[in-house]
Amino acid sequence: MHKKTTSLWPQATFLFSAAHFKEIPRSDKREFCVLGRSNVGKSSFINHALCNNTLARVSKKPGKTTLANFFALTNKTVWVDLPGYGHAKRGREEQIRWSVLVGDYCEKRENLTGVIWLCDSRHPGLAIDKEAIQWFASLHLPVFVVLTKADKLTRNEQAAHVRQFKQEFGTTETPLLYSNMSEASRISFWKEFPKWAERITKNIEPNSSVQGS
Ligand code: GTP
Ligand code: MG
Repeated sequence: MHKKTTSLWPQATFLFSAAHFKEIPRSDKREFCVLGRSNVGKSSFINHALCNNTLARVSKKPGKTTLANFFALTNKTVWVDLPGYGHAKRGREEQIRWSVLVGDYCEKRENLTGVIWLCDSRHPGLAIDKEAIQWFASLHLPVFVVLTKADKLTRNEQAAHVRQFKQEFGTTETPLLYSNMSEASRISFWKEFPKWAERITKNIEPNSSVQGS
């Protein structure tokens, strides 16, 4: 008899990548996509939160993730790493493909359960992030907000920026500060995210989209 080990966070394995929405096979698993500005730290967050640096590719330069990359988690959900928005350096055709891929995915994916939305903790209320959150709201997509790169702020700045984000997004719920250099961030995420996921799945708060606002 082997002893079953349990962990606060699930394990993950890479499933497949897709360049176009039509390449993505149908699924009935609950799916969460990770979205945010290019270079905000989406791929790093996936690797850190799932404690596996081989999952997603990370780069200092914006525009690293160009495909939708799917990961199976042992909690029977799927996470999707998507190209970021707001990056203008790649060719126009590539940019159009990314925005069509992300747009089609968010608008048409039937098993998409919620968005893990990453914003840079240093920059509350960017116009492009405001556009994004309005778009999620128009699609009735529940959003769990993670503020990345928190290690680049002092404690006072962190508190001030969290207040500012709440004002900008019009929510009473506190977005989660996250640093991929901190084990405590991972633990906080895995305490908060499952509660939120359960709440949105049960649809207890049908009128709220932003992190239980
Ligand atoms: P695209 O795929 O281009 O959209 O970028 P992305 O959002 O996936 O960002 P990525 O994970 O590639 O990270 C971009 C840069 O930010 C890398 O140099 C990371 O090391 C850095 N980074 C990500 N998260 C953190 C963090 O919490 N703290 C610090 N200091 N750096 C971070
Ligand atoms: Mg990426």
